[in-house]
Amino acid sequence: MLSKKSILQVDDLEKEDVIKIMDTADSFTDISKREIKKVPILRGKAVVNLFFESSTRTRTSFEVAAKRLSADMINFSASTSSLKKGESIMDTLRTILAMQVDLVVVRHSDSGTVKMVDDLIDIPVINAGDGKHQHPTQALLDLYTIRSRFKECRGLKVAIVGDFLNSRVAASDILLFEKMGMDVSIVAPSMLLPEDCSGFKIYSCIDDVIESADIIYMLRMQFERQGRKFYPSIREYNRFFSLNRDRVGRMKESAVIMHPGPVNRGIEISDEVMGGTRSPYSSVIIEDQVTGGVAIRMAILYLILG
Ligand code: CP
Repeated sequence: MLSKKSILQVDDLEKEDVIKIMDTADSFTDISKREIKKVPILRGKAVVNLFFESSTRTRTSFEVAAKRLSADMINFSASTSSLKKGESIMDTLRTILAMQVDLVVVRHSDSGTVKMVDDLIDIPVINAGDGKHQHPTQALLDLYTIRSRFKECRGLKVAIVGDFLNSRVAASDILLFEKMGMDVSIVAPSMLLPEDCSGFKIYSCIDDVIESADIIYMLRMQFERQGRKFYPSIREYNRFFSLNRDRVGRMKESAVIMHPGPVNRGIEISDEVMGGTRSPYSSVIIEDQVTGGVAIRMAILYLILG
């Protein structure tokens, strides 16, 4: 059990909840390595993926997690639903609830929509990313990836680099990382920072942190959430904020590179560092984040529905 029925933001989680989710994810990690990747823990439960905005990682990760626990997963995609014919979110919810489902996972491009859904219905709701607000399960899987790598999180130096202004991932990560005693800095151009940055350690070039950080967390440039052009040119951005071979070569030997995905190659991270189906650099742990994401979402579904 977790302290609250729903997970809408990192603030809903007590430190004990976070540790319980991490420990439960540890016990589920092995299931995904077996030949038969399925246990009957949530047999008979029905979970709905209610996605009003595009997603690859989060949607499929919740689907894989639910299926590995033997829950039924119903995928709702706004682009192929009756929303296109003018049906409201409220009526869409009424229809889905009438099918006797047990939990909904919601993504929406507007901040606050997931809270609105939670206010309207009695079953648990998980925020899979709402506008610029928060993406709490991303933060949990990021913490899990870091914990799996470093064992002890307290005192680790994390540099979060890029489009801080438009990032729900940064908003959730910072809250969670600081809750767990990590030392967080922001590296961003002034036009991609909120007006009030008091309380944050801010740097204006990735070179200021590249040699000292344990974790370089690259944020996606959120073009889809930027109402105007925020940076003069990609070349200029590359000069101060992007990861390339030279910068990776100057990182601590134990340091890692993370990104929530999807990566804009050549903007946040160069093609050379990204590589083909895998990066040539073992410090790039983007796929570990995805793998850990399945275990974390299995843990969350189990702790809420189990
Ligand atoms: N990290 C993340 O939320 O990716 P998707 O948009 O593919 O779900």
